[in-house]
Amino acid sequence: MSTAGTGPDAPRYVSGFGNEFATEALPGALPVGQNSPQKCPYGLYAEQFSGTAFTAPRGANRRSWLYRIRPAAVHRPFERIANGRYDSDFAAVATPPDQLRWDPLPIPSAPTDFIDGIVTMAGNGDPHAQAGCGIHVFAANRSMTDRYFYNADGEMLIVPQQGRLRFVTELGVVDVEPQEIAVIPRGLRFRVELRDPDARGYICENYGAALRLPDLGPIGSNGLANPRDFLTPTAWYEDREGSCELVARFMGKLWSARMDHSPLDVVAWHGNYAPYKYDLRRFNTIGSISYDHPDPSIFLVLQSQSDTPGVDAIDFVIFPPRVLAMQHTFRPPWFHRNIASEFMGLIHGAYDAKAGGFVPGGASLHNCMTGHGPDAGTFERASNADTSKPDYIEDTMAFMFETRCVIRPTRHALESAQLQTEYFQCWQGLPRQFTGRR
Ligand SMILES: [Fe+2]
Repeated sequence: MSTAGTGPDAPRYVSGFGNEFATEALPGALPVGQNSPQKCPYGLYAEQFSGTAFTAPRGANRRSWLYRIRPAAVHRPFERIANGRYDSDFAAVATPPDQLRWDPLPIPSAPTDFIDGIVTMAGNGDPHAQAGCGIHVFAANRSMTDRYFYNADGEMLIVPQQGRLRFVTELGVVDVEPQEIAVIPRGLRFRVELRDPDARGYICENYGAALRLPDLGPIGSNGLANPRDFLTPTAWYEDREGSCELVARFMGKLWSARMDHSPLDVVAWHGNYAPYKYDLRRFNTIGSISYDHPDPSIFLVLQSQSDTPGVDAIDFVIFPPRVLAMQHTFRPPWFHRNIASEFMGLIHGAYDAKAGGFVPGGASLHNCMTGHGPDAGTFERASNADTSKPDYIEDTMAFMFETRCVIRPTRHALESAQLQTEYFQCWQGLPRQFTGRR
């Protein structure tokens, strides 16, 4: 490589969700008044990058125009490479209706970058059908250097749990730390640098409609995740000549192509199809101030809509710090069975529905109609708590990937050493306390 360059010291961002952005790393690089002039400034190539059908309604349409040193087409043919544990076959083993829970994925000892460190836990649907999602964990201990990646199968929602990450993308640089998220649009080329010795986290790979902010209904015009807190990077490029590898995720498989230059050579761009980050600590949490509590849809950050109105393909939900003031109420999440399926992770602290066993970096899965809820210890404590005073739920950040379709664990997940085979025991101590006649 002729130059090193690992991004700017401090990435710059613009705020807003799904806005039409315009940004240039060199003055005058953006054509004025048209998208594809006969000759672009600085000898750049114009390229359209579409994330929705051309004819999608204006409010849902996503596309950007990229002005780059070479078009994305310039690479050698792809060859299949091993997938490792990054999978998309969710029908390989029968899906048990059990409650499932896992300990955190260990940090690898061998050199492992972000892509090599992806381990598929579960998923549903199929990239070919553009429906469903893959749910992965990752653990890595080295940066991608001359290696780049894009995912044609889906958008990637990345939830770091340990270690700071830098996403160096075609459209700019995004830094995230635990309790922030990054969303990389389908198809965007990027590499991941570790800003700490190691990193671990979760990924939702969304095969369907791009994530969006939910409508707020009676909540009004503010609340939950506010659009101004979503940050999209400004243009940044690397002008690197020399051998590098482009890895593609395509139809569930990994493919590798050689290039003789960096694919991150976009000098200017405009449009609304771009990566973004969001700090989960900025979520405006809303709840009951009288009795009972709302359904967890009140904690919805982002949604991927399905073809059925009101039924999302994916909901990204968080359980952040909050004050519980409801009186005469069992305050932790209640016992329930839902048609939706729930994959949960814990980013930080403790989760208020479990006394133990669900640790940061761990995961749980409660599928369609599988009974679950507070464990015996939590039930006992909350049933006798003084609800005349508020509970301050602090030092916590849990999340849920909730999906319309059953979430099917992979063989690896079901045979993993991290699977907690005694998880069911946490409810066995719930006593019979019926006071009626037998
Ligand atoms: Fe649940």
